[in-house]
Amino acid sequence: MYHDPKPVESPSGLEVFRNGAIGRKWTRDTTVPHEAMEVEVHGRRAASTKPAVTPVLLHRLRHDKSILALVVSSTNIFAGTQGGEILVYSLDTYERVAVIEGHRGSVLGLCLSQDQDLLFSSAGDRIVNVWNTQNFSRLYSIYSTYDVGDIFCVSYSSTLQTVYLGAQNTSIQWYDLREKDTRPQPSPTSHPSFREDRFFDSPGPGGVRTPRPQPPEGGPRHATGGRILELDKQYIRQFAHYGYVYCMLLARGILSDDPTEEILISGGGDGVIRLWQLDAANGGAIHEIHKLEDGREEGEAVLTLAVEGTFLYSGRLDGEINVWDLETKQLVRNLKAETDDVLTLSVGGGFLFTAGVSGIVQKFNRQYETVTEFQAHDRLILASAFAIINDRPTFVTGGNDNTIAVWNVRDCISAPSSKRTSNEHLIESLKQFISFRTVSSDPRYKGDCRRGASYLRSVFKNFGAATEMLNTEDPYNPVILAKFRGNPAKSASRKKILFYGHYDVIPAENEQGKWIGDPFSLLGIDGYLYGRGVSDNKGPIMAAIYAVNDLKEEQALDSDVIFLIEGEEECGSRGFEDAVRNNKELIGNVDWILLANSYWLDDHVPCLTYGLRGVIHATIKVESQHPDLHSGVDGSAMLDESLKDLIMVLAKLMGPEGKIEIPGFYDPILPISNEEKRLYSEITETLLRGNPELGDPRQLAISLMRRWREASLTIHRFHTSGPENSTIIPRMAEASLSLRLVPNQTSAEVARILTDFLHSEFAKLASQNRLEVTIDHQAEPWLGDFHNEIFKTLEEAIMEVWGPTPGRRKSSVSTLKSISERHGYSDSKPSPATSSTLANGPAEGDGVGYDETSEPTTLARKPLYIREGGSIPSIRFLEKEFEAPAAHLPCGQASDSAHLDNERLRQLNLTNSREIFKKVFRDLPKK
Ligand code: BES
Ligand code: MN
Repeated sequence: MYHDPKPVESPSGLEVFRNGAIGRKWTRDTTVPHEAMEVEVHGRRAASTKPAVTPVLLHRLRHDKSILALVVSSTNIFAGTQGGEILVYSLDTYERVAVIEGHRGSVLGLCLSQDQDLLFSSAGDRIVNVWNTQNFSRLYSIYSTYDVGDIFCVSYSSTLQTVYLGAQNTSIQWYDLREKDTRPQPSPTSHPSFREDRFFDSPGPGGVRTPRPQPPEGGPRHATGGRILELDKQYIRQFAHYGYVYCMLLARGILSDDPTEEILISGGGDGVIRLWQLDAANGGAIHEIHKLEDGREEGEAVLTLAVEGTFLYSGRLDGEINVWDLETKQLVRNLKAETDDVLTLSVGGGFLFTAGVSGIVQKFNRQYETVTEFQAHDRLILASAFAIINDRPTFVTGGNDNTIAVWNVRDCISAPSSKRTSNEHLIESLKQFISFRTVSSDPRYKGDCRRGASYLRSVFKNFGAATEMLNTEDPYNPVILAKFRGNPAKSASRKKILFYGHYDVIPAENEQGKWIGDPFSLLGIDGYLYGRGVSDNKGPIMAAIYAVNDLKEEQALDSDVIFLIEGEEECGSRGFEDAVRNNKELIGNVDWILLANSYWLDDHVPCLTYGLRGVIHATIKVESQHPDLHSGVDGSAMLDESLKDLIMVLAKLMGPEGKIEIPGFYDPILPISNEEKRLYSEITETLLRGNPELGDPRQLAISLMRRWREASLTIHRFHTSGPENSTIIPRMAEASLSLRLVPNQTSAEVARILTDFLHSEFAKLASQNRLEVTIDHQAEPWLGDFHNEIFKTLEEAIMEVWGPTPGRRKSSVSTLKSISERHGYSDSKPSPATSSTLANGPAEGDGVGYDETSEPTTLARKPLYIREGGSIPSIRFLEKEFEAPAAHLPCGQASDSAHLDNERLRQLNLTNSREIFKKVFRDLPKK
């Protein structure tokens, strides 16, 4: 009896939706180059004058199961999955705000009430659930006493307060929620979970019963809570179609006699579309008023419907889209989608979006010309939705590549200018900024550095800053100076804030494919923005610029904000000091210095950084007079080998437990004060409250002190002359090393004693070789005064913007203990807490899978005052040069992976940092 669609495999007929949930990485790059945020699409083009544009991928959200249904409210994306959960994402931050344990079977249909207070979900478990969209609790669970099979679709009439469902057993059924108190109580045994299942429970050949499929261990649980409602047998339309009821929607203004009246439209496996009148006086009962057929003898199944005004669009299995005029009930157009079977249709902004088996979205204009085609998913696209969010046209797709993609389709409607400096605009500018390969350490990218600098300068100029490129000694990258003048009426009290940052980045090649995408095209995934430099330091710079502009737009910028953004920080700020000294007058006076180039201690608690270590980088070279030799032919005890000499002097630098043996090295270092000790116990207390697995607070404090307030030495690499084989005695051997310095040590003095020490140790070897020590670059340590006004203002801003900090106890978080066990270290020597042990799991693994055991706890609202082990050469220099105190706001989280593969910044950290800067630029008092 049923007219099953092509890829049928019993029992549901939608097997194709249900298997193949094996995660595969979508590889196609859907982002665009910086020259144009919108690029021409090759191939078939609309005849219209408008150029074809590919929508910009705003964000991709990953899950571990197929996405079968989507609906978008003004604040959230709701996604129904093959595993029965309904995922809820914030449209502002793309954070996953909830995972609703929705159903025991695949979620096949979703819809919202008109006021968006209610969410309806239908599923393969034969149940329709009704959810509160504020707290995601279940209000009702509706079931039929019939064996309805899969419930493919659900619609809700807000006027009649009636839920309509379309099912596999060809029926349409309905429930008027106003009658929930007057209808008889359901009997517990008639609920589907207690009934025999026609497919699973009937005896097979030989009379053997197939056991019922159980949800996997740890998988979605049955939803709980709310009232159970039974569909009355009288509120059912059997054989609504001669096939499965695949899709349904409610439309208004179709019936000419009453334009406000709603009608129900359903599409079925029989290839027919039916229009139904709703009988308000009779419990919302449906009466067929029309039947739309395209004249084929055997219709292909209608899988999806969309309506816009009085036009109805229907999508079929073979890539066919029919356009119907609902006023005349005529088929006005027959489109052939390039996208293979059409599984989902959406309309909005004057466009029709079709998608399906090929993973391609095809966009038609009102003349039914193809405007764009783009690969949205690697595999099937199973669901889509269109919504105008904050005046922004947004298109969302979901597929069996287990991802949801959010597209900016802003060419649909031009956004009003008042929204132009929204966070989305900030992210677009950041995307362009990231696209410049501003790698300062590689001369090949000198041109890219220049272009990146001039792009940034154009951002400043567009926002009305007076800008200047400060030249540095060739070949170093220029420094950008940009001045935003505060309200001239306040000239006497106008304070001057200097924001320091750097536009250069660490190299990222992605030759081994370890990056999740191209490091130089910003990629939004699971609430995080990925790209080289996004956290160090391009994202924070962009947030600060937009914050100044926010104040300008509100006419609330009373201070002068001066940006100094250099392009050599990752190479030790070459040329910066001279450039600043040569332009002192142009830069002018400064009251406060602010920078934002570090990270929180973990992924949850906001921090303020008041100290950084200094650093000196040195190269130690031993050269002999003889050429590269062969160890068999020439090796002899009489020969002074360069690599051996080098190792012998390097070995003198360090004693047991990392003690540096350079005489006088530790002398200037001050002992820890009582106040500082208190800060450490505050930090460990807070960290342990959030991550109790971190263990002993004393060990944790010691490991932090080692990184923040104690010096360290690292030998980075060796280099030798000659061919790379094991018989060579190299003529020359070289090592590069660095020393991290702490307050009260000065880099010049340490450079001197290091050089002297190496030479005196080398002399003891009485070698014929020559030793050369070169200091490559150096940076002074910095210790800020965290009692001053700028820290106080930052602290208040952080508390306002971040609010109470939720502490998540994530069971999967790596702990000190488990890390040391994994590496087989003995308990007597604990491994130090590193940024990765404090981060909430590694970057790649995070985001997929959720922690059911997590219990939100509220931690102290105050930011943690921390120091950092890293260095920023310019900060102490700027303090001295301008006689102004500096403060450091870390924007990123511990898991940002700066300098590593997959550097990222949480979108929420970016936008909240913008708010914090805004408050600080506004509220900072005069010194
Ligand atoms: N953002 C870092 C500094 C930093 C590192 C802060 C770790 C907090 C934690 C900066 O961009 C950087 O990489 N600095 C270099 C400076 C060096 C090249 C002179 C560093 O620390 O190695
Ligand atoms: Mn860096």
